Amino acid sequence: MNTAIRCSLATLALGLSVPLTAQADALEQQLDDLQDFQIIAHRGASGHAPEHTWPSYEKAREMGADYLELDLHMSADGELMAIHDDTLDRTTDGSGPVKAHTLAELKALDAGSWFNAAHPEQADDAYAGVNILTLDEVIDRYGNDVRYYIETKSPERYPELQRELVETLVNKGLVESGSVAIQSFSQDSLQQIHALNADIPLVQLVWYSPAEDGSGLTEWTGVTPPPDEITDADFQAIADYAVGIGPNVVHDGEDVIDAGFVEQAHNHGLLVHAYTINDVDQMQRLLDWGVDGMFTNFPDRLKTLVE
Ligand code: G3P
Ligand code: CA
Repeated sequence: MNTAIRCSLATLALGLSVPLTAQADALEQQLDDLQDFQIIAHRGASGHAPEHTWPSYEKAREMGADYLELDLHMSADGELMAIHDDTLDRTTDGSGPVKAHTLAELKALDAGSWFNAAHPEQADDAYAGVNILTLDEVIDRYGNDVRYYIETKSPERYPELQRELVETLVNKGLVESGSVAIQSFSQDSLQQIHALNADIPLVQLVWYSPAEDGSGLTEWTGVTPPPDEITDADFQAIADYAVGIGPNVVHDGEDVIDAGFVEQAHNHGLLVHAYTINDVDQMQRLLDWGVDGMFTNFPDRLKTLVE
C-alpha cells in the first residue's frame, strides 16, 4: 500500500480528534476497498448514454459501478465542469474551447443530441437537450452514495484547478468520507494535489504509443519511461505520491503493457487501473493479469464478468 497516504492516515489518527479519527477510518476503508476489484464507469456508462450527463451517471450507478469517472475542465468564470474534451464541438451543439465560455453559456448547450446522431441504435429522445454538468451539481446530487474518480484534464490550461478542486472536495466532505480518488496524466498536477491534501488517493495515468522515430514505445508526457525501460525506482517514484497507475493496454491493436507490468507495479504497492476496456474478452484477459480495476464505458459488461 502507498506509503505516503498510510503515513498521512497515521498522522490523522494520532491527532486524537474524533472527527479526524473518523476521517482516518473512512480513508482506511476506501484504501481497503481499493484492494478489491473496482468498476470505474468511464464518463459514466458512456457506452449507453451521452458521456458526463445525468443519464450516463444514472445508468452507471444502476449498473453497479464502484466509481463514477469525471473529466474536469473550467469555465471562463472558474466553475469546475464535467466534460472530457478541451473544446465543445464533439459532445455539444457549441463550439470552441470550454474555457472561453461562462457557466451560463455552457449550461445553455445541448450535450445529448450528438449521441443520438452518433449512436442511432441507442438513441433516446430523453437525451436530446441534456446539460453539461458542474462538479458541484454531481456531488450535490449523489453525495457520499457513490465514489468519484476525478481526472484533472489539461491542468496546464487551468493553473488554479488543483486548488479549486481540493477545496471543493474538502468542503463537500468527500475527503472526510473517503469518497474520491484523483487521476491525471500530469505528474505535476498530482503532486500539487498531494501537497494540498495528502489524504486523497491519487492515480498516475500513462499513455503508451509507438515513438515517431520507431525506437519503441513512449509515454506521451515524457515523464514515465516506456514499459521495457521502466525500473523499480520509477515505480517507487510514483508510489511516493500515488496509490496506483492507470495505463492504456492496447495501441492500434497492439499490446503496450503485459502481465509483467502489472506484477512490477504490484511489487511497489501500486494498484493498476487499466483504461478504457469495453470488450469482454479483453476484460477477462486483464482480470487474468490481476489488474485491480478497469475504466469502462460498459460497467454492465464488467459487472457480469466479476460477479
Ligand atoms: O481516465 C482514464 C481515461 O479516461 C484516460 O483517457 O482520454 O478517456 O480521459 P481519457
Ligand atoms: Ca478520463
